[in-house]
Amino acid sequence: MSQIIESQQASTAAAAPRLLHVEASPRGAQSASRQVAQAFLDAWKDCHPGGDIDVLNVWTTELPAFDGDALDAKYAGLEGRERSAGQARAWQEIGNLADRFRRVQVVLLSVPMWNFGIPYRLKHLIDAVSQKDVLFTFDENGLRGMLGGRKAVVVNSRGVGLGPDFPREELDYQQRYMTAWLQMIGISDIAHIEVEKTLMGAELDQAGRAAACMQAARLAATL
Ligand SMILES: Cc1cc2nc3c(=O)[nH]c(=O)nc-3n(C[C@H](O)[C@H](O)[C@H](O)COP(=O)(O)O)c2cc1C
Repeated sequence: MSQIIESQQASTAAAAPRLLHVEASPRGAQSASRQVAQAFLDAWKDCHPGGDIDVLNVWTTELPAFDGDALDAKYAGLEGRERSAGQARAWQEIGNLADRFRRVQVVLLSVPMWNFGIPYRLKHLIDAVSQKDVLFTFDENGLRGMLGGRKAVVVNSRGVGLGPDFPREELDYQQRYMTAWLQMIGISDIAHIEVEKTLMGAELDQAGRAAACMQAARLAATL
């Protein structure tokens, strides 16, 4: 009997979906991207009461510097050389960080636009974890992402609105970059939510946040 219960518990645990939230705004409760991501998370938790949520805040997480042993470990791998003990330790640290992506089914990223691109701490995380044989493979057949089958949701916040005054094709190095990176690591099922005009007066800010929160909650119910 206890074996049956244990195996039921094990299968329930295996079925519980896991989500990683990469938080890239340092603005805490003021953050538009975080507010919209929270609306997504609240709805997702309602749909998946046993779901597991891992939060990786790029501002409070110690990200490994990508020089010295970490950099040498990367090139040792690329050039087929054995890694020194220090390099192996640095590589392990990178692998531990990448594991947080590998163990989930859904990756939620809240991403403010900074100077048309993404905050440097998010780029730091991306540079650390995007490694051959960690998140992608690379050989004579080309580059192949290793995170296939997962879904990503990106909440893109901006002070202005992309459009005639700020043409998307010329100035968007945020949303398009996130798409390019997620595709590189193998995630092709990507949904973007935009929360714009957060710096164009309180009214537009509130309206943009409310619309994006509704969109996020609707989307969460489908994932
Ligand atoms: C360093 C920095 C650079 C910014 N650059 C841009 C920009 O290029 N375009 C834009 O629309 N907003 C820009 N903003 C405004 C933010 O995108 C806006 O405040 C947004 O709401 C930030 O997201 P958050 O509220 O989730 O932190 C910038 C803000 C900061 C702090």
